[in-house]
Amino acid sequence: MAEQVATNITWHDGTVTRHERAACLQQTGATVWFTGLSASGKSTIAVAVEQVLIQRGHAAYRLDGDNIRMGLNKNLGFSAEDRTENIRRIGEVSKLFADAGVLCLSSFISPYAADRDAARALHDEAGIPFIECYVEVDLAIAEERDPKGLYKKARAGEIKGFTGIDDPYEAPANAELVINTGTMSLEASVAAVLACLEGRDLLT
Ligand code: ADX
Repeated sequence: MAEQVATNITWHDGTVTRHERAACLQQTGATVWFTGLSASGKSTIAVAVEQVLIQRGHAAYRLDGDNIRMGLNKNLGFSAEDRTENIRRIGEVSKLFADAGVLCLSSFISPYAADRDAARALHDEAGIPFIECYVEVDLAIAEERDPKGLYKKARAGEIKGFTGIDDPYEAPANAELVINTGTMSLEASVAAVLACLEGRDLLT
């Protein structure tokens, strides 16, 4: 876990409470954390959920692994240390979005359980809802989909340390939601996420 490096800094509280912010926005922020293999369908589901939420008048925003790695996290690769730092930063950013009152949809492979747990702990400490959604799929199906041709490259040895091939993926043991995209349609997957949010009174 990252150490506090700066010294002589003091937290500066605001006067707006989360409750006031929620009243202003007419919604409570939360993070839905999609985890799963590359090509499991995380981003596809998040895109569709974001569309429905916005159409229904909710403030929602997506954070996506590939996209974030072109900006905020462009200095990170795929070593274990870099993946941990990637998820640490996104855990913090997701928490900020959710604290601001937004329904934050974060899709990252996030292969290591400890890193996801750390993101969850950040939210828990702040009293912000964190919903871990395991987008489950058999490796064989993900490999067959291979929309970016990366599994093929990894099998050919052209990419080293590819999740599911020669880098581990630790499946969540206690995710709030499990969506198997090998058996569930996109519509059913979106409905499951919405039901989960609804069940937590986050869509009222
Ligand atoms: S994570 O492991 O750090 O959570 P992240 O979700 O940000 O990964 O990025 C994963 C995306 O990067 C994949 O969908 C794929 O497009 C691309 N990628 C490139 N190299 C790798 C690799 N070695 N392992 C996994 N994904 C990779």
